[in-house]
Amino acid sequence: MSSILLLTASPRPSSFSTQIAFELADRLRAANPTSLLVHRDLATNPLPHIDGGFTAGIHKPNEALNAAEAAAIRLSDELVAEILGADTLVIGTAFINFNITSNLKSWIDYIGRAGKTFQYTASGPEGLVKDRKAYIVLASGGIYSEGPAAALDHATPYLKSVLAFIGITDVEVIRVEGVNRGPDGAANAVTAARAQIARIAA
Ligand SMILES: Cc1cc2nc3c(=O)[nH]c(=O)nc-3n(C[C@H](O)[C@H](O)[C@H](O)COP(=O)(O)O)c2cc1C
Repeated sequence: MSSILLLTASPRPSSFSTQIAFELADRLRAANPTSLLVHRDLATNPLPHIDGGFTAGIHKPNEALNAAEAAAIRLSDELVAEILGADTLVIGTAFINFNITSNLKSWIDYIGRAGKTFQYTASGPEGLVKDRKAYIVLASGGIYSEGPAAALDHATPYLKSVLAFIGITDVEVIRVEGVNRGPDGAANAVTAARAQIARIAA
């Protein structure tokens, strides 16, 4: 059965990225009604930052873990199982200080696991999360798809790099951009994003 993992990460209550990411997930489900939707709300239920328990625990067998390490590895294993169990990933994030939200970064820190989501081979690292489609819904006050600020978009190349590293290369970006640009900025940005997700679901 197909499964969609929806991650939402904006700390803002009236978030555009959360709204559009939900709309996209709903449309994908409508196109494939038997698919499961798993939603992880990283803003309301933020993950703890990785700590000494995690960084030590990833190098030990389960039976050697102390309580703090076991808790961190259990959480990481749960998050890894969620992404491995999904064939479609929808990531909604606010653009904060030229990058993704810190809560989404924490999620990445937990799911980047050698031997589970990637492995080292003689010819270099190999992603183990293959044959998936990912959508990135990125909401920003300014415009970064083109123009003078494009080089300041560290969110899109970063997310694409991380996804490629774990094996996900089929990635589409939906920008909800320029929401702070004038009185119509938000409305125009949402209209453009909705047109894009309508094309995706068609
Ligand atoms: C703390 C903070 C930092 C922000 N940094 C940027 C930024 O670097 N560039 C930008 O274009 N917009 C920035 N914004 C505006 C947000 O990207 C914008 O409000 C966007 O709609 C957030 O996504 P959301 O609607 O999903 O919450 C920032 C907003 C906040 C609250």
